[in-house]
Amino acid sequence: EDIPVITIDGPTASGKGTLTDEVAQALGYDVLDSGALYRVTGLAASRHHVDLDDGEAVAALVPTLDLKFESGRVLLDEEDVSADLRQEATGLMASQVGAHPEVRRALHQLQLNFRRLPGLVADGRDMGTAIFPAAPLKVFLTASAATRAERRYKQLISKGISANIDSLRADLEARDARDKGRSASPLQAAADAIELDNSQQTIGESRDLVLSWWQERR
Ligand code: C5P
Repeated sequence: EDIPVITIDGPTASGKGTLTDEVAQALGYDVLDSGALYRVTGLAASRHHVDLDDGEAVAALVPTLDLKFESGRVLLDEEDVSADLRQEATGLMASQVGAHPEVRRALHQLQLNFRRLPGLVADGRDMGTAIFPAAPLKVFLTASAATRAERRYKQLISKGISANIDSLRADLEARDARDKGRSASPLQAAADAIELDNSQQTIGESRDLVLSWWQERR
């Protein structure tokens, strides 16, 4: 139980995924992209025609899922669904299924299983509050809504996906409101988290800050 964990929580498109990958790579640690678990659960539920508002039915589906995580790719029933998972529509499904306490319970142990030597960087909404409450370093990453919408816009355009910046911003604000407002593990900073607003930072600057905090704490 002495496997180190760094948690990185925060709102949609705050740059958690990129920061998590950078920190993990620098330290040689594994990554838990917990959002991918909620996304793949939402995707599987919709494929199986399970009502996303029925928490018990979605939770019952979780143990039956054939999931594999291979270096950033997610396989569902041996099919690579990584691209489907990144769709905005799948993000909304994730936030819908993530609102149910039954679903969060069903995914709890799965997330703990990612903790392996030499260490883990866990990215999500409740990594520091609910899943790894004893983690020695918890980061709560934020950025302004305008910055987040702009980054998401550039990301999509660079992949050749057309996007509208105003509707992206409206979508991410709606998702934030749902994540913060739900009663089951709402998005909030852990009491002992360090808040980092990266609106004006490069990814390298944020990474080096987190690594320096880790030096002090581990
Ligand atoms: O981080 P990502 O955008 O992939 O997460 C998609 C959605 O999944 C979030 O908006 C949130 O509703 C849900 N989620 C969650 N708890 C987590 C990770 C994601 O509820 N730990």
